[in-house]
Amino acid sequence: MKILEVKDLCKTYIVNKRQNNVLKNVNFSIDEGEMVAVMGPSGSGKSTLLYTVSGMDAITSGEAHFCGKNIAKMGQKELADLRLDDMGFIFQQMYMLKNLTVQDNIILPAVQSGKQESRKEILERCQELMRKLGIIEIADNDINEVSGGQLQRACICRSMINNPKMIFADEPTGALNRASSGEVMEELAKLNAEGTTIMMVTHDVKVAARCTRVMYIVDGNIKGEYNLGRCESNSQIRERERALNNWLMEMGW
Ligand SMILES: Nc1ncnc2c1ncn2[C@@H]1O[C@H](COP(=O)(O)OP(=O)(O)OP(=O)(O)O)[C@@H](O)[C@H]1O
Ligand SMILES: [Mg+2]
Repeated sequence: MKILEVKDLCKTYIVNKRQNNVLKNVNFSIDEGEMVAVMGPSGSGKSTLLYTVSGMDAITSGEAHFCGKNIAKMGQKELADLRLDDMGFIFQQMYMLKNLTVQDNIILPAVQSGKQESRKEILERCQELMRKLGIIEIADNDINEVSGGQLQRACICRSMINNPKMIFADEPTGALNRASSGEVMEELAKLNAEGTTIMMVTHDVKVAARCTRVMYIVDGNIKGEYNLGRCESNSQIRERERALNNWLMEMGW
């Protein structure tokens, strides 16, 4: 089943009276359970695509249906509820609150959500997530007392706290070293295997090679798509990377 269906999506920014057509009639869809990477040159519109299809930023024209509902037609309140309850977000500039502990940052979206839940239930889920992502021991640390990799794993916990149908991630491993990046990808792949659909922007071939599909964006359009299929075991990774690299070269990467 399609979780996201985008039709003739256009996004135009106007800066100093100059019109910048960033996304130009983009069409694609994502099935439930997929893990899709978005790649392409800097400035091609990858982040803009992620923000518009997830309702973070307004759509200029066209449609984006999330679970069958056109988010281009939704009001601010309806969109905010949808984002809070059904979507998870992992950004590069992580938007964690500095005066809160790791745990309090993670539970924030659950506290804000309209779902009737006790603090105890929320904390239990939070601790289960932190255990799974290997950061339970830093639950009570301040945000500025943890490493980059730990912080990014905390972001993943936060994006998962309301059991979203889909996670949108903008370069989730961009600020990490190779080891932390591998760990974070491992966790995202696990969440995906358990059923969460993921759409992520990445510049990293190693990261994209773990996804089921790669979309290549050039100048506000999808220039090509590459179907990798599910990664069944780590032994396939090298071969997937090699195949993806070849395809990216054809795309002009
Ligand atoms: N809020 C904004 N207001 C005006 N213009 C914007 C805004 N956000 C992005 N742009 C413009 O849209 C274009 C695409 O930007 P976008 O951030 O989507 O690129 P990107 O593919 O994510 O690049 P990178 O790989 O460097 O992150 C750029 O020309 C950028 O200047
Ligand atoms: Mg970007």
